[in-house]
Amino acid sequence: MAARLSLVLRLALTFFTALAAAAQEPLIQTPGYRVGQAIPVSCLNRTVDTGEHITDESGQLSYIPFFTCNETGRPLELLFGVEKDINCTLDFIDDPAFHLLEFYVHNDAPLTCRIPTKPLPPSALKEEFEQGTKDDTDGQGALSEVYTPMIVALTGTLQLSHLHVSTSLNVLVHAAPKSVAPGTIAAATAYSITREPPTRIVIGDSLPLRFSVRWYPNTSLPSGWTGVGGHLTFSTVVYCLISAGASAAICLAYFRGIELPRRLKSHGKDRLGGMERGGLGGYGIANGNGNGSYGGYGVGKRD
Ligand SMILES: *[C@@H]1O[C@H](CO)[C@@H](O)[C@H](O)[C@H]1NC(C)=O
Ligand SMILES: *[C@@H]1O[C@H](CO)[C@@H](O)[C@H](O)[C@H]1NC(C)=O
Ligand SMILES: *[C@@H]1O[C@H](CO)[C@@H](O)[C@H](O)[C@H]1NC(C)=O
Ligand SMILES: *[C@@H]1O[C@H](CO)[C@@H](O)[C@H](O)[C@H]1NC(C)=O
Repeated sequence: MAARLSLVLRLALTFFTALAAAAQEPLIQTPGYRVGQAIPVSCLNRTVDTGEHITDESGQLSYIPFFTCNETGRPLELLFGVEKDINCTLDFIDDPAFHLLEFYVHNDAPLTCRIPTKPLPPSALKEEFEQGTKDDTDGQGALSEVYTPMIVALTGTLQLSHLHVSTSLNVLVHAAPKSVAPGTIAAATAYSITREPPTRIVIGDSLPLRFSVRWYPNTSLPSGWTGVGGHLTFSTVVYCLISAGASAAICLAYFRGIELPRRLKSHGKDRLGGMERGGLGGYGIANGNGNGSYGGYGVGKRD
């Protein structure tokens, strides 16, 4: 109850602080995204024969909406601050789309996309969805500040008659710290992962893209690795030392108690197998965690 009351008080305080700040600041500052607000993804239009980017009459790069997803009937959209899996199936890979996929997968040209750093004014947004944007329409100053690039590193292999595309992708989006610029995107990227065998694509197939979207509240990445090679904490060091000591002790006991008497008995076959087995046992204990995190990797790496 008290916690909720303090939350309400804090919210109210934030609200009035924001109000005061807004009153002081001139109105030129565009508002940021609200949590859950849709963010349109647009990509560089490329020629089908060479994969080269297309520019308009004024020499500006021409961005067009991302492929239309069959699930929504609209081009791909991210939701500000919302971590979710988005299915975006391209219903029908026609001849031009297939050739573009070939360029992307073969690294002849990147799938260069971008998202508005802050919500676009309604006029620009309309264009974004209708015929692609010209870069200088909204007169908001430097373009690099209006859009944040999002390169989609789509991977796969090119065969004679078909393509293999890794259709599962991770999407990482960094927001600028709320205290600095609320509702503002700072950086974004997307890349294929080989979670399951790549999808085989010929002209006329559908392409089931699966995006896993994750958001970060600032531009630093949290550490995600806890096994071997991750943070070397004091407890890890102590754990390693103890298990190394323990396995050495087991080795020694084994050698003295079992192996040595056996060898003394039978002078002939002098095998080191027992000792090796003991040593490996200790290794296995010390690396229990590490093996766990590598396990999935090994399985996922099937061709
Ligand atoms: C992309 O460029 C091609 C070639 O100029 C053009 O035919 C096509 O309409 C453009 N795509 C969109 C969605 O504007
Ligand atoms: C996306 O498609 C997969 C099947 O490919 C399905 O298992 C999953 O539930 C779908 N996810 C969403 C969010 O629709
Ligand atoms: C795409 O949507 C249409 C209509 O909703 C449906 O008939 C078609 O089977 C869908 N295609 C795929 C690949 O899911
Ligand atoms: C960035 O955000 C993370 C939460 O994901 C937080 O733990 C970290 O302290 C933040 N870093 C900075 C520099 O604010």
